Amino acid sequence: MSPGDGQEEERLVATAADREDQAVEAALRPRDLGEFIGQSRVREQLDLVLRAARARGATADHVLLSGAPGLGKTTLSMIIAAEMGAPIRVTSGPAIQHAGDLAAILSSLGEGEVLFLDEIHRMSRPAEEMLYMAMEDFRVDVVVGKGPGATAIPLELPPFTLVGATTRAGLLPPPLRDRFGFTGHMEYYEPAELQRVVHRSAGLLGVEVTAEGAAEIAGRSRGTPRIANRLLRRVRDWAQVRGDGVVTHEAAVSALAVYEVDERGLDRLDRAVLGALLRLFGGGPVGVATLAVAVGEERETVEEVAEPFLVREGLLARTPRGRVATPAAWRHLGLTPPAQAPGAGQDGLFEG
Ligand SMILES: Nc1ncnc2c1ncn2[C@@H]1O[C@H](COP(=O)(O)OP(=O)(O)OP(=O)(O)O)[C@@H](O)[C@H]1O
Ligand SMILES: [Mg+2]
Repeated sequence: MSPGDGQEEERLVATAADREDQAVEAALRPRDLGEFIGQSRVREQLDLVLRAARARGATADHVLLSGAPGLGKTTLSMIIAAEMGAPIRVTSGPAIQHAGDLAAILSSLGEGEVLFLDEIHRMSRPAEEMLYMAMEDFRVDVVVGKGPGATAIPLELPPFTLVGATTRAGLLPPPLRDRFGFTGHMEYYEPAELQRVVHRSAGLLGVEVTAEGAAEIAGRSRGTPRIANRLLRRVRDWAQVRGDGVVTHEAAVSALAVYEVDERGLDRLDRAVLGALLRLFGGGPVGVATLAVAVGEERETVEEVAEPFLVREGLLARTPRGRVATPAAWRHLGLTPPAQAPGAGQDGLFEG
């Protein structure tokens, strides 16, 4: 666990699911492709894969879903099983440490069943190699005994569909990646799509929400449905205690001011990093270690927790000479860039 992890869990804009998320997410998950909002490309591609398999009366090809946390990979895996009318077995890379663990799961699968392997990039090497053969030939070699007397007993498997999910597709060994018939790359959501997510979730939670309220929450959700659902719950709380129970624009603005999530989805940590970069270092370039000391955080926290979103938003650039604020960063914090500031006009700095 890096220092960043503990920090990340406490944030209202954290990408990973906290305990409350886990409790409510099951209830908020879309059940079929029709209910699944956004990701139109992946949805269309997957729809073709599943329809064709159904028409052939065959088991669907193996599917890999890659994308940032909270974009809907687990949700889609459940939908794949539902659309195929098949049961789903759920496990994860870290849970499979020995090839034997995987063999036990594979050998108990029924025909057509969906095996959901979350965090597939974290599986052990020997298990990975067993998985290659299982995916391709629906067969595993179970090794019995140890040393020179060990024998491999081949075991036939019924056809099944492996759905792998990963936040780090780049870490998958190519032989594993190549064995998936279809890879869906999940993108960040557009505000309009997140607005629909908020409306849908509010309906399921029995909360009244106005279009302006939903739009305000959507705009602060960092392109991520999980965050949209979490912000919605906090705004609902505010509306219940200090408002009339309706998630209006005012409720969203007031509630998220309390939680220090600004109109662009930056929280206290993001703003502290950006603020230090602008106010103390004139927009940079400054080394990340120095920046971390300035905001009183671990370097890893700044690098892994705050920076990715700031970079994605085009507010901060990582250059060979250090961190540099973009002109948009000055504007976002309502500051005027000094005439010579690197962020003020030398756009060449941001290339590459
Ligand atoms: N397209 C969508 N439409 C509506 N709600 C969605 C959609 N995608 C995700 N969600 C909501 O966001 C929550 C998080 O999604 P999910 O758990 O599937 O993300 P994930 O990609 O598996 O994240 P992780 O990488 O952390 O496992 C779900 O509870 C679901 O309610
Ligand atoms: Mg998941």
